[in-house]
Order: sequence, then C-alpha cells, then structure tokens
Amino acid sequence: MKRFPLSVFALGLLLFTFTSFTPPQKKDPPEKRIEDLLAKMTLEEKVGQLNFVVGDLFNTGPTVRTAQSDKFNEAIKNGQITGIFNIHGAEYIGKLQRMAVKESRLGIPLLIGADIIHGFKTIFPIPLGESASWDLAAIENGARVAALESSAGGINLTFAPMVDITRDSRWGRTAEGAGEDPYLGSLIAAARVKGFQGKDLADPRTIAACVKHFVAYGAAEAGRDYNTTDMSEYLLRDVYLPPFKAALDAGSATLMTSFNELNGVPATGNMFILQQILRKEWGFTGTVISDWQNITEMVQHGYSKDHAQAAEQALQAGTDVDMMGEAYLKFVPGLVRSGKLDQKILDESVRRVLWLKFKLGLFDNPYRYSDSKREKREIRSRENLAVAFDMARKSIVLLKNQGNALPLSASTKKIAVIGPLGNNKADMNGTWSFFGEEQHAVSFLEGIRKYAKGAQVTFAQGCDLYSNSTAGFAEAVTAARNADVVIMALGESAVMNGEGASRADIGLPGVQLDLVKEIHKTGKPIVALVSSGRALELTWLDQHIPAILATWSLGSEAGNAAASVLWGEYNPAGKLPLSFPRHVGQLPLYYNHKNTGRMYEGDHSEPGSERVYKSRYRDVPNTPLYPFGYGLSYTTFAYGAPTLSKSSITGAETLTVTVEVTNTGKVPGEEVVQLYIQDLVGSTARPVKQLKKFQKLAFAPGEKKTVTFTLNAADLAFWRQDMTFGAEPGDFKVMVGGNSRDVQALPFTLTSL
Ligand code: GLC
Repeated sequence: MKRFPLSVFALGLLLFTFTSFTPPQKKDPPEKRIEDLLAKMTLEEKVGQLNFVVGDLFNTGPTVRTAQSDKFNEAIKNGQITGIFNIHGAEYIGKLQRMAVKESRLGIPLLIGADIIHGFKTIFPIPLGESASWDLAAIENGARVAALESSAGGINLTFAPMVDITRDSRWGRTAEGAGEDPYLGSLIAAARVKGFQGKDLADPRTIAACVKHFVAYGAAEAGRDYNTTDMSEYLLRDVYLPPFKAALDAGSATLMTSFNELNGVPATGNMFILQQILRKEWGFTGTVISDWQNITEMVQHGYSKDHAQAAEQALQAGTDVDMMGEAYLKFVPGLVRSGKLDQKILDESVRRVLWLKFKLGLFDNPYRYSDSKREKREIRSRENLAVAFDMARKSIVLLKNQGNALPLSASTKKIAVIGPLGNNKADMNGTWSFFGEEQHAVSFLEGIRKYAKGAQVTFAQGCDLYSNSTAGFAEAVTAARNADVVIMALGESAVMNGEGASRADIGLPGVQLDLVKEIHKTGKPIVALVSSGRALELTWLDQHIPAILATWSLGSEAGNAAASVLWGEYNPAGKLPLSFPRHVGQLPLYYNHKNTGRMYEGDHSEPGSERVYKSRYRDVPNTPLYPFGYGLSYTTFAYGAPTLSKSSITGAETLTVTVEVTNTGKVPGEEVVQLYIQDLVGSTARPVKQLKKFQKLAFAPGEKKTVTFTLNAADLAFWRQDMTFGAEPGDFKVMVGGNSRDVQALPFTLTSL
C-alpha cells in the first residue's frame, strides 16, 4: 500500500474537518454558532438560506408548486430552501424539518411561514373588522390565539400584521389592515406583533411576526392593486411609515417589502426605505423578506433589465429573502463570483436569516413547532372559539338604528332572513383565511335561529352574490310579507376583497340593492347586516333602511356574534376605522385631510351655490356618509363641555384635557372617547384633525365618568418642512367626542419647545 507523507495526511484531516460538518455546539452563543456555520457554508448554501418557497397546499401568487415533488425534496436536502410557506400540519412539517436537518450537509432547519392574518383554524374577523373594536387587548389576544393554533400546526412565522394605511376603499386589501389612521393603525400594529410573538420567540406557542407591506402599498393610485405610489416624503413619514415603526418597536422579527413602486423605485430595491429609513434611522436588524416574486417583478416595473440585475439591486438594497422569485438562487452565486456583488452583503443577509432561526429556537430543537398532541388539543378549542366570538361582537359597528329598531324584541314571532350572505358559511371567514375550514363557520341563519327562541325563522336567498339574476326576488318578497321583521344579510363574498380584488364600484355587488328595494316595498321593518372588506357605498340603505350593522367578515363565530348583537345580549360599541363615502367618486376620502385654500363646508342647498368656487363636487357633499371613529350604541352618551388644565403649555409641560361622559340610556354600554388635535399653522400645512388619544370605557345605565387625557409636545410632533421631526410652537385646537365629526373644540397654545 502506497504510504503518504505526513503532510498529505494532515491536509486530509484538515479537509475532512472542514467538509464533514458538525452542527454548532449548543453551548456556544448564537453569534459564534452563526459565524462557525457561515465559515463552513458554500456560496450555494448561503444563497439557499435566502430562498423561500410556497408549499403545496395553497398558492397565494401567480405560480403553483408542489411540495411533495422529488425536485422540491432534493432542494431541501441540498440546502437550497430556507423555508416553505402556506403549508401546515405538525407531522408533515416534522417530516420536512427532519429532511432538512438530517439529510442536508449543514442541517439548517427550515422556516415555516404562513399567512395567519386573522386566525389559523379559529378564524377571527378580518383585520379591518377587528380594528373597528378599538380594543387593543382583544386584538392582541386574537393574535395570541392565532399563534397558539398555528405554532401547534408546525408554523413558526406569520406574514402579518399587514399595517398598510389606506384612504381608498376601491383597494381590496383595505380588508387586511387597520383603516385610514396612522395613530390607531400604529397601536393596532404593535398589539398584533405582541400577540403573535409573546415574550420569547423561542416559546413554541409563539410565532415570528412579519410586518408588511413595506411601504405605502395602500396608496396605490386609484385604489388599483399593485399600482404606482408616488408621494412626498412628508406624507410617507407622517402617515404610511408610523405603523411599521410601531410594529418594529414592538419587536417584529421580520418585515416584508411591497409590490409597489414608490416614487419611481420598486420597494424591494429601494435603498431609501430599506437602507436609509429601515436600517440607518430605525436600526432594524431583523430579516427583510420580499413579497411574492417582488424581486423578479422589478423587471416588469422597468427598473431592472433582467433577473440578474434585479437580484443584485434587491440584495444591495437589503432585501434578505427572495420569496418565490428564485432570482437569488439562480444569479447571486454568479454575481459574487464575478465580483459584481460583494460577498459581505450576501453574508449579512444570511446572518440575519440564521439569527431568526436561532431566535425561534430551531437550532436547539427543530421539531419544537411540530407537536401533534398540542395540535389536537389547541386547534378550534372551546376557549379559542370563545375569544373569536368576543372579538366578533366587538367588531360590529351599529351604523343606524332609527326608532330603536334594534335590539330585536324577544317577542318577535316571525323573522325572515333574506340575502346571499344569510345562509352562507363559505364567506363568513373572509379573505386570507384559507387554513380555516368554512364548514365550521356559524352562518347568520344558524346564529339567528339559535337566538330567536320560539320564533319562526325562514330563509330566502333572494339573489346570489355575483349574477344579475332576479329569479329569487319573488320568493324573498313572499318571505318578507309573511314575517314581522326582515334581517337582510348583504355585502361582499370572501373573494370580493383582499389581494387582487380592487373594485371601481363599491356599492352592494350584483343585484343586492335591487333586492333590498323590492323588500323595502313590502313595508316590513328591515335590519341590514352588511359584510365587507372595505367601506361600501351605502347611501340608499342609509336613506331607507332603519337599522344597519357593519359586520365586515366576522369569522368562525359570525352568526353567533351577529345574533348576540341583534338581540341585545351584547351592546355594539364598534367605531369605524375608516370613512364611509356617500359616493365612490369621493375617494380617496379620509378624515385627517388638509383644509386647502377653499374648503367647502356647505351642502349645496344655499342659493347660488352652483357659483361657489370652493373645493367640492357639485353633485355630492364633501363629508362622508359615516365618518372615521363613528359607531352607535343601544344606549346614548352625553358629553359635557371639555376643560383644559391650562390654555398654553411649553415644550416641557403637559396639558390635561378633561371631559365628563354620561350614559344617558337605560342599558349598559361602552364608548370610545376620542381626542383629536389640529395644529392651526405649520411649516407644512397640517391636517384639520388628527386622532391622538382614545379610551374605550364601559358605563352602567346613568353612569357618569370624568375622562382625562394628557397631551405634550411629543403628541404634536410632525415632519416639519426642514424634514426634522418635532412640534412647532403655535395655536392648536383640541377636540373631544365619540367620533371624528361630532366633537367639541377648545384652543390652546404651545408657547415654546
Ligand atoms: C401575497 C401577499 C402577501 C402574502 C404573500 C405570501 O402575494 O401580497 O401579503 O404574505 O403573498 O402568501
């Protein structure tokens, strides 16, 4: 046998040490374990850690992939996949983790992502509905339940919360956010992150959050999804960025870039937002994940000449992970080898992904999120459904209740439920709820039958959601004629809002309004349950229907929650998180608008109004049909005159605002007492109103509460003309009320900073 000199043997030993990897020792700190791992990774293995692909259960974008294909499994074993999303099942995911950890050279576990937007198997109201509760604790609790269930099902990362501010309900993804206000949206964003992540990401009952879509996606021109967004830096920083900052301050482990081009540069390759703002100003050290094929779509945007350049631009800008584009997989090794891309940039992104996996505890126990026993116990547990029921009731907004048509009397004997959403389970869960089995959702009819003790409850669909057929009208009219009260279940299906679901007409879809008019002709009292993922145009209903409830998509407990409110078991306290227009032509419409030089406050009734040269439409008032922050109750609340602790403050002082609120009705109720400010003069023109504080309070019948708020200079800060953030001395108004329209105002001055 040929004898090798000692030096060759030593070299062999050295090579063997480097190539046959031993996983990082658990006792080492993550930093060291990451560096050890990084030092051993090939270029291809590094890039593999930046490649996120969809599994085989759902596709949420334009391409479909099967997770069970051999090609897919080979990619896992070759370390070419860092994570798989929109799959679930403790056992199935355990199998995939074992494949990654035991059969790949480096044994790096997988991220398992999913769109857990408003619940996993127990489905909560869509986020827009939850936001109408203005109940931050309930919202956090809902996210906690979603994390409990999904983590039991093997998931360790959710692509939520979606925090895109939107002012235009033609945009279908209005459904997924918290409406039009950055202050409310910021508080809700933080609550959701805390609910998902809990106190420790390594806790197997929590999941990593991914705040999305960064940034200004909700400002898509004309409300058309994926459309161009273009705005001043003032508007970006004052309105669209704050909820992201709040989510990151609450600890969101990851962030997702958005589809849109922002001021000429696609978000995914946008150095200003990803480097200047996110990394430099905010100091975010977490992982940035692109949205579906956002990197390769930079070619369609006309920003990258090919996928290789897109990969280079996106990685340079700081998008760490490529979702479904495979641009990094295909082109980054070549870009690094050719010297076009500095390996340090690649290493930084890989480091952030490995950090995330360490924080999730995946290196210490890759199977911690695959717990079949907990999965069986946790999913759709009675406790979880009770949380969803509570959240659904809190989400409902009473828009109209003429003559106290509601709550329904227990003596109501004959009820007709009419409309395409009346006996409907499939649409109750709403958009982004594909893990929830629709057969488990409680329909409105089921809930009404449960609560209408002893009453005869009939159902007639009347029409469907999509066609223009009126063939069902006659049956519905007959059902109405034979009833004492009619409950109409109207609105959008689960796919009429959400992604890719912008609408130019935001009225009731199909022939639903014609159906309402036919039922209205019977003269029977009508209660309308209006389900939607946006503000709909409800002008005719408001003029003719005595009772209207906004029921969004209420989720698993929809029917029970609606019936609980209809019969007054729960007194509705929801407040609108966005303005409802009189006409779609008013959009974009939002309460925190500027005054302009010629604001029109009239209603076109004054003589000669047609010659009034003011900022208005000649055919529609400027005001919304239902304003931001609006919602009625089965009781009434009276607001005393607010008082201020002083008429002026310096930048170091606090102003206390006090107002007495009384429940002047006969039943207990909750009120969201809201405080707005107006900065009368600014180095950039300021909005006529901005929400700055609110308190949701419970009142017994006749109970009076003294409500106090404190304000200081920080509450008055904005992005000034010199692009610094802070308040400016001057005159202000503070306004208090139960919505953004019906407020009482008092002046005060900020005398100095
Ligand atoms: C979709 C959505 C995004 C979602 C992702 C993964 O295109 O824009 O919100 O998280 O793909 O499903």
